[in-house]
Amino acid sequence: MCGIVGYVGKDTERVLIEKLKQLEYRGYDSAGIAVKAEQKINVFKAKGEIKNLEKTIVPLKDAQFGIGHTRWATHGKPDEINAHPHVSSDDKWVIVHNGIIENYLEIKDELTKKGMSFYSETDTETVAKLLEFHSRKVEDKMEIISETCDTIKGSYALAILNKETNGIYFAKNKSPLFIAKKGENVMIASDVICFYGFADEYYSVEDGEIGYTDANTLVFKNKFGEVVKNPIKCDFGNYNNANTYKHFMIKEIYETKNAIKNIIEYYSQEENRNKILLRKLDGIKRIKIVGCGTAYHAGLMGSKIFEEKLGIECTAYVASEFRYQDPKIGDDTLVILISQSGETADTLAAHEISKQKGAVTLALVNVEYSALAKSADISVPIKAGVEVAVASTKAYSSQLTVLYILAGLLREKFIGDKFNMADVEKLYNEFDYGNINNFKLLADVFQYNDKMFMIGRGADYCTAQEASLKIKETSYINSDTYYAGELKHGFLALIDEKTYVVVFATEKNVLSKTLCNAEEAKARGAKIILFTCFDLEPSLTENFYFVIKVKELGNALQAVLNIVPWQIIAYYTSVNKGYNPDKPRNLAKSVTVE
Ligand code: M6R
Repeated sequence: MCGIVGYVGKDTERVLIEKLKQLEYRGYDSAGIAVKAEQKINVFKAKGEIKNLEKTIVPLKDAQFGIGHTRWATHGKPDEINAHPHVSSDDKWVIVHNGIIENYLEIKDELTKKGMSFYSETDTETVAKLLEFHSRKVEDKMEIISETCDTIKGSYALAILNKETNGIYFAKNKSPLFIAKKGENVMIASDVICFYGFADEYYSVEDGEIGYTDANTLVFKNKFGEVVKNPIKCDFGNYNNANTYKHFMIKEIYETKNAIKNIIEYYSQEENRNKILLRKLDGIKRIKIVGCGTAYHAGLMGSKIFEEKLGIECTAYVASEFRYQDPKIGDDTLVILISQSGETADTLAAHEISKQKGAVTLALVNVEYSALAKSADISVPIKAGVEVAVASTKAYSSQLTVLYILAGLLREKFIGDKFNMADVEKLYNEFDYGNINNFKLLADVFQYNDKMFMIGRGADYCTAQEASLKIKETSYINSDTYYAGELKHGFLALIDEKTYVVVFATEKNVLSKTLCNAEEAKARGAKIILFTCFDLEPSLTENFYFVIKVKELGNALQAVLNIVPWQIIAYYTSVNKGYNPDKPRNLAKSVTVE
């Protein structure tokens, strides 16, 4: 969702624009920058893409520092007025903000009574006006910012300019914010990826901290005084903008095998396994897995793996439901929260509730410096490397692989069976990306189709859910998922000659049942695409429209081999339709608001 950058150094506008472009993947609908040059703060804003913003910028002499923002509208429509930066009435304070100010209406009301007026529908503008309000009685800028932060409730990462100061102030609560300093240049960002090509290490701003930076200074403060921090090494993995692929999505799909290698290397090390094995987990009687979207689908699959390997109750929940369900958890519950970004608002809220109720929490995250990773009792990295495309691909495969390892480690801990990496090594050795020409053929067909179904039983149902989500979000096709056994209980009525039904049939114990369901749909005119890992008698499949066969692994990691073809098919369907698979309409990479 929204993104923040700040920069102290020459060529400020160019650097800010370049960094905002690096944040584009998070999703946005307007953008803006504010640059101090020629003794004043110059603000430029535009609705839509960053290239619209670029057209508004006039050349500035002696630009020294500035802040920028990509906005994903929450309070007020996506237009130029609501775009950040926002400015106080006296033009002295200029701010960009990520997060949500929960008490902004109250503040607006209070300040209006005191004679202040507002020009936008945003919660952010109230912060700019509050800074102005507090500066009427206090001189010191840090004190003004501190008082402002004491007044606002909610989540915020703020980068702030003041007309009288030659640097950037910042503040943080619950929304991520990072700073890197290289010589006299400083970069502030809500995403560490902005430091790519700029610095090798950075500082993490923590909740409740405020600070100031310019060419010579970098200071962090909390309510106890100045905070001394150690820098953190940047880990950009295989992130590289200048790649040979046309889109991040396909690049990231093709990074899956390497991600599995990283996982094997990481979890083969005893010290990393011990982060789980040596935890006190006595008395855990049930496991709840929580996530959103793709992460939830990984959790669905995970719940099956855990129940099978540990023999205890394990249920997967969508985080936005879990948080309002008064979940039955206590100190006998392990809550596993899955999130690629570690910043998803609903998942963070689910974590908070789990902690309040006394559960042990374990975060399965890709972004290791994220809020979720930092706040959970146990943080388990999935080692996928930076994922930029909105459609999650290699992260899903990595989540499944690490869930499998986690289940094995918990089995060693609870039951005593020594964990070994053999199944994961087999997955790596057997892994291939399949017959790309076949996948392209299917994408050629799907591009003209606006309705399809994906069905399966057991673990295949979880794959169907995820495959369907990939098709939906990248290609805008109405793809619905059902348990294969539910066919006759309703949705058979929707099937006609124009309907494509993808039948996932990689679960041996229900294979014949699933094939029967395929026949039932076929008999009503559906075009059946059978997806299997078994060598089936030709007579069983000759009536089907298309058959995709993948390797048979013989364990739950089959799910990793099963999803990759569908990620590739979704990608090519999207490209055929002329869409940008990296940035599906209306979606954002990290859903940081409810
Ligand atoms: O960062 P998270 O894993 O918490 O994100 C959860 C979902 O928003 C995410 O998986 C979303 O469904 C993706 N766009 C799916 O491709």
